[in-house]
Amino acid sequence: MILVTGGAGYIGSHTVVALAEAGYKTLILDNFSNSHPAVLDRLERISGTRPNFVEGDIRDGDLLDSIFKQYSITAVMHFAGLKSVSESVSKPLEYHANNVLGTLNLLAAMQRAELFTFIFSSSATVYGDPDSVPVKEESPRSTTNPYGRSKLIMEDILDDLHRAEAKWNIARLRYFNPVGAHESGLIGEDPQGIPNNLMPYVNQVAIGHREKLSIFGGDYPTVDGTGVRDYIHVMDLAEGHVSTLDYLLKSGGMLTANLGTGRAYSVLEMVKAFEVASMRSVKYEIVSRRSGDIAECWADPSHAEKVLGWKTRRGLDQMCADSWRWQQRNPEGYQ
Ligand code: NAD
Ligand code: UD1
Repeated sequence: MILVTGGAGYIGSHTVVALAEAGYKTLILDNFSNSHPAVLDRLERISGTRPNFVEGDIRDGDLLDSIFKQYSITAVMHFAGLKSVSESVSKPLEYHANNVLGTLNLLAAMQRAELFTFIFSSSATVYGDPDSVPVKEESPRSTTNPYGRSKLIMEDILDDLHRAEAKWNIARLRYFNPVGAHESGLIGEDPQGIPNNLMPYVNQVAIGHREKLSIFGGDYPTVDGTGVRDYIHVMDLAEGHVSTLDYLLKSGGMLTANLGTGRAYSVLEMVKAFEVASMRSVKYEIVSRRSGDIAECWADPSHAEKVLGWKTRRGLDQMCADSWRWQQRNPEGYQ
């Protein structure tokens, strides 16, 4: 059985579906700080079986000990954490307590349980403002905010751990920009409050919850002046985790990999593609740049392709169509 921390969240829930499809049993541990219990019913509808679930916090060592005693866990996929860059700037202690201390607590409990296979959700944010694109795993790392720092710190601690004890099998997966939803429209991204990320905001404009999109910056040195990113379908990302798990269980060791498509799209290109997929128009206005944003970032995914035999399969049209299906069928999210 695979322990999926944060498995009720956006990427975790899609990965639970992909794991079930690949024949793995899962146990979700989540405190619902950024997710909704209804996701469990939806997962049952998609996969035909209800995932095992424990409500609780990764910072609770006794709870982790009891989980590792009660269930026969073979590996941990660790999605639980806080993820808003702007919130991390105002609440650094909360971010480090959750993302760094919480992860250390989980690793310590794994060690007590003699369980040594761990997949960590890192982020393209560790590349900071890259000197050149596409970024490779060896590209320089940097950060400007507490969220990014929590990922950098954890990457380094995992490196220390593997150097000290080679029995640990660790993957540090650097996600680019996950978008889209499961094709059933039953699970998807359900941001609380005003969305920070582009695609949830675009969806909310299209459905009529928000008047218009503010495009942050039209004067970047990019194809059309707007920011350029590597958007990856969340189901491709989820399948990347299954490939990583298969690889770690077979070959072990330490893996660091970009999970992206290698394709770059501007904000305006995303808006246009979404308009075509949804057959709605998305009103927008170009405003000043968002502080901390970068002009462009996209992945060189060749390492993951080579080592894992994994490749993204879903293109931009499907990302937009699936994202819109989820939004239309769930205009208020899981509420
Ligand atoms: P999410 O907020 O949807 O999911 C995280 C889940 O973890 C939520 O269900 C939340 O309730 C739970 N959680 C948070 N703190 C917890 C704790 N202390 N104990 C138990 N559960 C806890 O986020 P997501 O988009 O699914 O991201 C998953 C991981 O991937 C995060 O670590 C995030 O930093 C990383 N990541 C996300 C993105 C992205 O764009 N979504 C990009 C790069 C990396
Ligand atoms: C953001 C985070 C990053 C995190 C990633 C995935 C910041 C500064 N960076 O990255 O650390 O890993 O999310 O969760 O928050 N945009 C608009 N209008 C909007 C929203 C976004 O124009 O309302 C633009 C942005 O300027 C950017 C692009 O859309 O060019 C993508 O933005 P977003 O979805 O927030 O992702 P990132 O900025 O790449």
